Amino acid sequence: MSGRIDAVLGMQWGDEGKGRIVDWYARNYDVVARFGGGDNAGHRIEVGEKKLALRLVPSAALHPTVELFVGSGCVVNLEGALDELARLSEVGVDIERVKFSDRAHIVLPDHGVLDQASEQARGAQRIGTTGRGIGPAYADRVSRVGVTLGQTLDEAGFRSCLRAIRSAHERALRDPSILPDFAEMEERMLAAAARLRAAIVDGVGYIHTRLSAGKRILAEGAQGTLLDISFGSYPYVTSSQCTAGGICTGLGVGPSAVGRIIGILKAYTTRVGAGPFPSELLDAAGDRLREAGREFGTVTGRPRRCGWFDAVAARYAAAINGAHAVALTKLDVLSGFERIGIVTGYRLGEREATISEASHPDFRAEVEYLEGWAEDISGARRPEELPNAARRYIARLEALVGLPIEVFSVGPEREALINA
Ligand code: GDP
Ligand code: IMO
Ligand code: MG
Repeated sequence: MSGRIDAVLGMQWGDEGKGRIVDWYARNYDVVARFGGGDNAGHRIEVGEKKLALRLVPSAALHPTVELFVGSGCVVNLEGALDELARLSEVGVDIERVKFSDRAHIVLPDHGVLDQASEQARGAQRIGTTGRGIGPAYADRVSRVGVTLGQTLDEAGFRSCLRAIRSAHERALRDPSILPDFAEMEERMLAAAARLRAAIVDGVGYIHTRLSAGKRILAEGAQGTLLDISFGSYPYVTSSQCTAGGICTGLGVGPSAVGRIIGILKAYTTRVGAGPFPSELLDAAGDRLREAGREFGTVTGRPRRCGWFDAVAARYAAAINGAHAVALTKLDVLSGFERIGIVTGYRLGEREATISEASHPDFRAEVEYLEGWAEDISGARRPEELPNAARRYIARLEALVGLPIEVFSVGPEREALINA
């Protein structure tokens, strides 16, 4: 093994700006590989006139020669993937270089129905999922009834897998009639699998031949550390590993293959869906962040919950991921706030609390305030062009998180990213 895998991943509750950061780092890589999640992800990039919202395809789509890989840890909606490829092709992206691991699992129409039924049944305790069937697809994988992309290659085998998974769903449901018509689903899935066939590869071989050839690989995370199935705010999480451990389990490599980890942090915090959010602002400041940051979900259009930067959560995420440096996004959104809050501590009564205790009724977040800046900074292209208060804010975040911020962004466009 002579190549290595660096990674860019989210260190909050998703939507940190992974798409645009991957687009920026991708210039230095031969391959960009998604290691987990499915089309619950929505990664936006803006390059000149081109604006893309990627769901499964890695966010290096606008780098014409970079190979794009959907790894073994992902779950793939066949028809969704074909639609995404068609949309990319329409805007001139060469989709021949997009490959899918044979070990990735399929998200079936059944899974979407199960996702929505489970949310309904939870009532007030619902997770607020994207409704894309991601949780049920991963659950079937763990239950050993799931179907992989590799299994679609043998038509008869695929048919019998579909039959078996449907039986499992029927057994699990009180009212199986909510499931889509089986024969129709089977034909749709067979047709979609046939169209995707040429893009399905031996996922382990794909990565390891490239590592052996010394290719530079960038792993792209989806969702964020606090949505991780093991280390997020369980049960208000997604069903995959979004943290650095997911690079190994999602691509089929050992930790020795993993190099630098860049953790992405938004200059404030957002969250879509339910669950604890220590720095949430339920006042005018939160509304203002939502408006200024256009914080509406890429996948579902839902308004995102907004709050101040949470340094305790960020330190936790940096530790879980073993992050080497930070890419900070959306600094421009904080312009015009007279003072900007940062959560610097969690308390439970007299003692310090951890993020796992954030749902406790007596949990309290401590906020420190910094002086804001009035200037619009979206035109800045060098650190020296920032007002002093913005530079002090960046320095304070670095000190609190304990990592260097190596790039920061002041707008969604590719050129609005600045080397710190
Ligand atoms: P991802 O899921 O982590 O890739 O993030 P999303 O793409 O879902 O959400 C981030 C949103 O913020 C997108 O609409 C981006 O275009 C936008 N964005 C990214 N960086 C910046 C920035 O520095 N400033 C502003 N104003 N918008 C940004
Ligand atoms: P990107 O990659 C933000 C959230 C959902 C919900 C929880 C579980 O764009 O950052 P799921 O459908 O995965 O079972 O939903 O996870 N969620 C995301 N939030 N960004 C995402 O992806 C998300 N993917 C899932 O809102 O709270
Ligand atoms: Mg997103």
